[in-house]
Amino acid sequence: MRTKIFKITKENSEKVLTKASLIIKNGGLVVFPTETVYGLGANIFNEKALKNIFIAKGRPADNPIIIHISKKEQIKKLTNGISLVEKKLMDAFWPGPFTLILKKKKDISDIVSGGLSTIAVRMPAYTFAHRLIELSAVPIAAPSANSSGRPSGTSGRNILKELSGKVDMIIDDGLSPIGLESTVVKVNKNNVLILRPGAITKEMIEKVVFPLPVLSAKNKKDLESSPGTKYRHYAPKVKLEIVSKDKMAKRVEILKKQKSKIGIITTLQNKKFFKNFEPNVFILGDEKKLTEISRNLYRALRFFDTKKVDIILCQSFSKKGIGVAIMDRLERASSKIIDNV
Ligand code: TXA
Ligand code: MG
Repeated sequence: MRTKIFKITKENSEKVLTKASLIIKNGGLVVFPTETVYGLGANIFNEKALKNIFIAKGRPADNPIIIHISKKEQIKKLTNGISLVEKKLMDAFWPGPFTLILKKKKDISDIVSGGLSTIAVRMPAYTFAHRLIELSAVPIAAPSANSSGRPSGTSGRNILKELSGKVDMIIDDGLSPIGLESTVVKVNKNNVLILRPGAITKEMIEKVVFPLPVLSAKNKKDLESSPGTKYRHYAPKVKLEIVSKDKMAKRVEILKKQKSKIGIITTLQNKKFFKNFEPNVFILGDEKKLTEISRNLYRALRFFDTKKVDIILCQSFSKKGIGVAIMDRLERASSKIIDNV
């Protein structure tokens, strides 16, 4: 398959998105930008197209896909009804980087839900994503645009190698502003469960659902209800270790003795300590601005794909605000977390 690649601008957006919407309507696959990460989209009502998503990504069939909508009325096509708490959450966080698990209507394909009785639904805020769904006139099923297990695509360019030839079209709009996938949330009878942390934080959700408690899925049973979380994820091609800032120098010393070739992921504040490691250093940004760190995280992991290093050491971050999501992804991507050198 020949993949059409378009750099989207304000001027050409209607033309590009109309083309893309025709592809979606006709059962093709389109990679498109959202505020979180890029999505690999297909028409929710076309089973063949849904199957092709799994083929293009090499994704396990039991890992369900998020359904993207452009207006709230569309949930009527997907679910038979929502609770008051679910409504409150939609009103607070849609459009935005927030995904809600809802009961699935019978006529929605089991392919999209991975055989579960529930579906995941999100309304993106990103103008081009919103307009693509609108023009397609159907909800768009879209996992993150990347080969299964790899870091999610956060720019059209960084996923070209992985997905060209496997999808009909890639719409490139540069780097995704958030850079990490949406927060995935399920409302239970007695609590609200965060299945995947993201830019909409626990504290933000607590304010909306009070007095219901908000929990983070940690135990096996919780996580089994979100199949995606059981797979190794976001992995760079070489080994990754997360090291607290103060242990970094000591860990480097040990690895050097072992003659390991080291790649470093760190922040502007610590750049000066790693001058000798150039060009195998990636600076995520200002450590006081966690949104900068999150935006660049997957780009950093992919940066080392083409570097000849044996191991990547990445500085750890405080688990506050979006820091929870940053550390969640780093822990999933890593083979080792170093607390004690
Ligand atoms: O920001 C995002 O959410 C991006 C953009 C493209 O919207 N999408 C994304 O999709 O990250 P994906 O497929 O890479 O991750 C979907 C996550 C998986 O962890 C999956 O297990 C979970 O959502 N999920 C989907 N349907 C579910 C369901 N019915 N119940 C529980 N978890 C579900
Ligand atoms: Mg994904």
